[in-house]
Order: sequence, then C-alpha cells, then structure tokens
Amino acid sequence: MAKHPPTKSAEEQIEALRETLRHHEHLYYVLDAPEVSDAQYDAWMHELRALEDAHPELRTMDSPTQRVGGKPKEGFAKVPHSRPMLSLDNAYDETELREWDRRVHELAGDEPIAYVCELKLDGLSLALTYRNAQLVRGVTRGDGVIGEDVTTNVRTIRSVPLSISPAKLHASGLPENFEIRGEVVLSLAAFQKLNAEREEQGLAPAANPRNAAAGTLRTLEPNIVAQRRLDFYAYFALSEPGYIFPLQSQSLDALATAGFRVNPQRTLAHTLEEVWDFIAKAEVMRDSLSYEIDGVVVKVDSAALQERLGFTGRAPRWAIAYKFAARAGVTQVENILVQVGRTGKLTPVAALKPVLIGGTTVSRATLHNADEIERLGLKIGDFVAVERGGDVIPKVVAVLREKRPVDAHDFSFPSQCPECGSALVREEGEVDWRCINVNCPARLRESLLHFAARGVMNIEGLGEAVVNQLTERGLVRNLADIYQLDQSVLLSLDRIGEKTAQSLLQQIERSKKAPLDRVLLGLGIRFVGERTAQFLSDAFGTMDRVIEASAEELERVQEIGPRIAQAMLEFFALPGNRELIEKLRSAGLNFNAERKKTSSKLTGLTFVLTGTLPTLTREQAKERIEREGGTVAGSVSKKTSYVVAGEDAGSKLDKANKLNVPMLDEAGLMDLLEKGKR
Ligand code: IVH
Repeated sequence: MAKHPPTKSAEEQIEALRETLRHHEHLYYVLDAPEVSDAQYDAWMHELRALEDAHPELRTMDSPTQRVGGKPKEGFAKVPHSRPMLSLDNAYDETELREWDRRVHELAGDEPIAYVCELKLDGLSLALTYRNAQLVRGVTRGDGVIGEDVTTNVRTIRSVPLSISPAKLHASGLPENFEIRGEVVLSLAAFQKLNAEREEQGLAPAANPRNAAAGTLRTLEPNIVAQRRLDFYAYFALSEPGYIFPLQSQSLDALATAGFRVNPQRTLAHTLEEVWDFIAKAEVMRDSLSYEIDGVVVKVDSAALQERLGFTGRAPRWAIAYKFAARAGVTQVENILVQVGRTGKLTPVAALKPVLIGGTTVSRATLHNADEIERLGLKIGDFVAVERGGDVIPKVVAVLREKRPVDAHDFSFPSQCPECGSALVREEGEVDWRCINVNCPARLRESLLHFAARGVMNIEGLGEAVVNQLTERGLVRNLADIYQLDQSVLLSLDRIGEKTAQSLLQQIERSKKAPLDRVLLGLGIRFVGERTAQFLSDAFGTMDRVIEASAEELERVQEIGPRIAQAMLEFFALPGNRELIEKLRSAGLNFNAERKKTSSKLTGLTFVLTGTLPTLTREQAKERIEREGGTVAGSVSKKTSYVVAGEDAGSKLDKANKLNVPMLDEAGLMDLLEKGKR
C-alpha cells in the first residue's frame, strides 16, 4: 500500500523547511549562535510561505510562518492560573541571606541542602501552557491568581518554541502536557531602540526595560510586538500532579534540552559560601549583560524538600531573592543645563552634586524634556532621587519636596540655543524644543554628513572619518566652508593622501552642479525630504523664490501642508540659515532649476499656450517647457509645433485648427515633458 513518490511531496517539503527554520531559530534566538545568514533564513521562510500558500490545508499553528497572527478582538481575556504565581521574599544583605539559610536548615533537619542560584531577570513573569507539545496559551502573572491571556503576543517571541518535536520532548523527559514559567525581558539594545523611536515620534520615553516589556506584552498589535524583540527565559517546569523532575537543576537542563532559552548563568551551590560567590560574580557581571538583572534567586534544588518546606503567605520558603543594592541615590541638583543633540533636539540635564551610585560616581542625570521638569516639579537646588540602570543614562526620578532648601529656584527653559544663540522652535504637538540652525556647532557634524550623503549632494569621500576631523579641528564651521577647502588643509588630516585629497576636491567641485532640488534637500530642513524638495524646485524654479514664498504659496505646492510650510518659514527666518544660503550662492552652487534642468528633450519645438490648464499656471507651464529646451511663443504660426489648450481657449485654437497644428491638453504636455519628442 505504501507508495513512494519519486519526488518529495509538498507535505514533506513543508515539514523539512519547518524543521530547518526551527533549528536555525533555536540557534539564533535561544543559543545566540547563528549558523546561516539572515538572507538564507529569509529565503527559506519565503519558500515555506509560498508552499503553504499553495497548500493552505497543510498550514499548522506551529509553523514558523504563523508567529504573527491577527490581533485579539476584545483585548485580553482574564484567565485563572493553574496554580498561583507567587512572588519571592527578598534578602537585601548577607545577614538576611544567612538568616534564610538557617531557617531552611532548621526545617530540613539533617538533610544536606543544595541550592540552585539563578540570575533574577528584571522583567515580568509569564506562564506558558503546552498541550500535546504545542503552545496553546501564554498568561501574564496578573495578581498571581488571575492573569491576562496574551497568547497572540507571546507567539511572536522567537525564543518561545511554538511546539516541541517528539525527539526533543523525549530527550528532555518532559511530558506532552506541561506548563513553563519564566521571565519576559527586553534587552537593553531593544529598549534603547524603542526609546529612540518614541522620542523621534515626540513620545515620552519608557522608564526602564521592565516597563517597556510589560507595555509591549500588552500591546494589541501583534505586528508591533514582533518588531520589539521580546525575549523569554524559562525557569520552571510544572505538570498536572506538580513537579516533573526531582531536582530544580534537572528542570532547567530539561528546559534547555527541549529548546527553551535557559539562562546559562546558573550554578549549583552546596554551601552558603558558594551562593555568596555566585552573588558576587553576578553583581560584577551585571554591568556587562545585555539585559537588566536586579538580583539573584536562590532555590532549594530538591523538589521533595521544596514540598516539605512549603509556603508562607505569598512566597515559598524554599526560595529567596537576593536583591542587589538599588542603583539609586539622593543628591542635590546644582544646576540645570541644556544640551543640544545632533539632530538639534534640546535635552535638559541636571548637574548634580556628585554621588556614588552602584560603584559609579554620577554627576549628571537626564531630565528628558521641558515637560518632564514641570511634571517632577523640579527647582534648582532641590534634593532628588536619581536612578541608574545598565547602559541607561542616570535619570531624576523624584523630587524630595520636604528637603527643598529655601533658596531653591525655578528653572526657565531657554528661548535661544545655548550653543549658537538661535531662536528655538517647538513644533505643534511635540515635546521637544529644537535648534534649527544648520550651522549650529552641535549640529554641524550631522548636517555635513547629510549634505554630502548619496542621493543628496553626492560628495563621496566626505564621510564620517573626514567630517569628524573637519568639525573637531574647526576647519569647517558651516556647510559652505567645504567649498573653501584646499589640498593643503585636506592633507593635514589623518589618513588622507594626495590622491584622496585630489578626488575629494573634485567631488566637492562637481557637487556645485547638483540640481536645485538636491541643494534644497541638502539644507536639512525638517520634514523636507526628496519628494518635497523636488516639488519645491518644480514649483518655484529658483532658490530665491523658495525662500521668499509665503505660507499660502508653499501650501499650494503638491504634498506640502501647514506643518512643512511652517518648518520652512522657521528655517528661512533664521539669519544664520540665510547667511549660509548666501555663502552657498557665492560658492557657485546651482540655485536655478532652469539652468540645471535644461535638457534637449524639446529642443526645436515651439509651443503656444492658450486657455486655463487644470493644474499648471501659464507661467509654470512655460517654465517647464523651457527647462526641457522648448520655446514658448505668443501666437500661432506655421512654425508652431503644438498648441497647449486648456479651458476657454479662444481664437488661438481656431487658428491652430486652420493651420493643422497638433493640439495638446495638460496631460499630453506632461507626457511630452516626461518622455520628450519621439
Ligand atoms: S522564581 C515561586 N526565578 O522575580 C517563585 N523568579 O520577585 C517564582 N524572577 O515574580 C519565581 N528571575 O518575575 C524566579 N530566575 C528566576 C527569576 C524570577 C526573575 C522574577 C519573577 C518573580 C519575581 C519575584
């Protein structure tokens, strides 16, 4: 009966691809040891998607293609836990830890005791239910008794296996139905990326990775959750009758064998001295880990002893959380400074009376933005609580009002840039104040890189290495200064030889011919991207007309609304920016769209315009034709190549008909402008 088809069936191909993808997901997301490129992984995923699209009946919930599903329709359902998710008692110093160890020994009698030491990850706990080795549910801790069903989001966490293969299940010793408990965390890198994005969008940054992870897990958009790159570390395995393995250390090994991410930083300690050693090591490790930890969890290894020890109130007697000294301190705000970032964003920073926090002297803490100072109710001279975490810049978390000195005084946010003195702007609906002077020393480096970038002024060779040196040594103080550079200056830079200098100078010279839209783009006006710059150039034709345009005139241009118009007016209102434009003009940059755009597409063709065109004014149509090399005449003759006619065209149209001159409407003209004459 069993037939062996000569080629692999779709089902076999699909299964093989899934196995391959799962294997590489495990290497990448659980073991941090990828063996293939992202491109290769994507290619397999693509292949699997295509096969599943062709055979939808073969699609299964545990396929690697099925991590991001639809959003939960009515928020997250509340569900009870199989058994309570307890919290832990804390020990804050060695004495408290010894006290706990003494009690455990007292209750255990003569039995020797081994402890498993694990890192205490600073995230949120999660319970995962597997039925028939398939993930069926993920529930947050909630109040410990009832949590929220966040399965759709948990499925997007790549270190959570959607199913366990029979081979892995067998090797691990896990039953088919089991529950895993562990911690969801956001790495410091993912946290910083998230906050950078939030700031870019004018949103307040998340306070710490734990809050960010909690917020992410409760996001109703699985797509967004998938992008945030949450991580899951497993630390418990349970099943219906209770314990699965006689030892916690075996549980952890089994979870790793089954394909879960288990923190490799763990140890089995036979004495309290060994526990203490691990704690000391963990505290040192803390600063170099890619995620936050806030202590060490010490657990009795033996499941039988755990059961005998039982619980007190809400916490087990058989485990304790040793908490690291908080990386927080109290100190006084001596002043509030305002820093200008590379994008022109202003960040208020508290200058602190230096204080030792977690082994580091802290003398600065971020205050994020003007609104935050108001929210905190902070005055200069106040005593404040300062917190420091992982890679995160220290921040002021609270003001100690009761300690406020009599001479504490209000801080007023500057109205001028502290670096260059330009007036600051704050766009509607945004929290940040910005300096929009392109030549502001704080911004110059980034402005230059943008100006020289590919697709802007295309000055190859003016990359970070050169720009850093030019700005740091004060050789370039504004964008236009690059047009004053000469061979001797360039040769004074590190790692620049004669050939490189020569070629850079040529590139700079060549950039003077860049079209007007590129120059507009190069100025780095907020919200003015490639398309907008092109529309501006098309509509106004010269730099001067762009600069002089009113809000109404700007808003008449395609895709330009009040927000962009406002940003442009603010930009050109700044004397420094005006000066820069004059310098660029004297350097010989291209300020006319006509000049650069002159092409020979329509050379030799004469046009006559008549009537009202639907979108172009007559002036604009004339400009466009001339830019492509055509001529516009006032009256129709035998020499006229085309009559461009709009609504209410009069006698010129009759004449064209009489002379058999071909006619175009606006669309026809656009077509010709685009493609040229045949
Ligand atoms: S065991 C009944 N192990 O710390 C004991 N918890 O303060 C349950 N945590 O709610 C917890 N890393 O969110 C355990 N290796 C670890 C942990 C850990 C972090 C968290 C967990 C728990 C909280 C208790």
